[in-house]
Amino acid sequence: MSRSRRKLEHIRHALNREDMGVNSFDEVEIIHQSLTDIHWDDISLQTQLGELSLSSPLFVNAMTGGGGEKTEAINRDLAIAARETGIALAVGSQMSALKDEKERQTYQVVRRENPDGIVFANIGSEATLEQAKIAVDMLEANALQIHLNVLQELIMPEGDRDFSERLRQIEEIVKGVDVPVIIKEVGFGISMESTRQLKDIGVSYIDVGGKGGTNFSKVENKRRKQPFESFNQWGIPTAISVKEVKSVYPECNVVASGGMRNGLDGAKAFVLGANAFGMAGHLLRILIKDDLETLVEEINHIHHEFKIAMMVLGAKDTYMLDGKPHIFTGRTKAWLEQRSTG
Ligand code: FNR
Repeated sequence: MSRSRRKLEHIRHALNREDMGVNSFDEVEIIHQSLTDIHWDDISLQTQLGELSLSSPLFVNAMTGGGGEKTEAINRDLAIAARETGIALAVGSQMSALKDEKERQTYQVVRRENPDGIVFANIGSEATLEQAKIAVDMLEANALQIHLNVLQELIMPEGDRDFSERLRQIEEIVKGVDVPVIIKEVGFGISMESTRQLKDIGVSYIDVGGKGGTNFSKVENKRRKQPFESFNQWGIPTAISVKEVKSVYPECNVVASGGMRNGLDGAKAFVLGANAFGMAGHLLRILIKDDLETLVEEINHIHHEFKIAMMVLGAKDTYMLDGKPHIFTGRTKAWLEQRSTG
């Protein structure tokens, strides 16, 4: 199957809400506070993610590109929505555009529609340093995401099988490009062990891409004659993954993503120590099932909801949410106790 056809199938499967598992943010309760001391107009959504100054804690996470006219149209709409709401946007994997120059247009539309916005480039961990630089230049990107998707590749019949050089290649890119490099998962989460390995090679931005939303085991299994269904529940839930990363690397710039549904999930992620949150499937579903206008309204609604949480918790700035009183329940509590993430 061609790469572009596969991308369109990913979109189709990702639109299916059945693929969503249990969401760990339902097992994080923030403790309500009755005596807020701030004025609504003083609340700022301005967010610092390491070197990146974002006007919102939310961004559109990596999804499409390289699949021809359809994916170009989706990228155009995502870029317009990002521009209209002032949020950052990551493009989908540019690996196909690195191999075929004709595909570049489907990504570059993002920069054309949003010339002054914050844009993240996106490549796989198989990329070389030279390819990483081309991916960044292609979009005049403000940051570069490198996705880790071992399990997805293993379930894909045509997926990669050799990961022996990946950590070394990531290290070369982190040290060799002059924009921040964000290492991201695609729905299976980042553990404390993987965090230590990433820290050792100089990574300082991690997008946990945890379990709870788009599920690439299920997506890829649907495309197989003989699926590996035993892996459909695999992965580290997003809220837990944020805790895992922070527990061994407190100064890391952490992005929460994977099943983020609303502004309150975003605020909970900040309480756990995240510095930004990304949404992919939820925003794509709205764009495709409704339209661009509804997507813009939804992003504004998410901002509003995030601000309500900030107000109730007495946080004028997004970083002030970090560590606000909260408890864990259910499986999330059991997990954190056994992994001693503090
Ligand atoms: C993705 N995702 C993704 N990630 C990445 O780094 N490069 C990519 O090319 C893609 N492609 C892609 C296509 C589609 C259709 C979807 C829905 C997702 C993964 C995405 O960025 C994110 O990590 C996961 O989808 C989990 O987040 P959500 O969807 O639960 O918010």
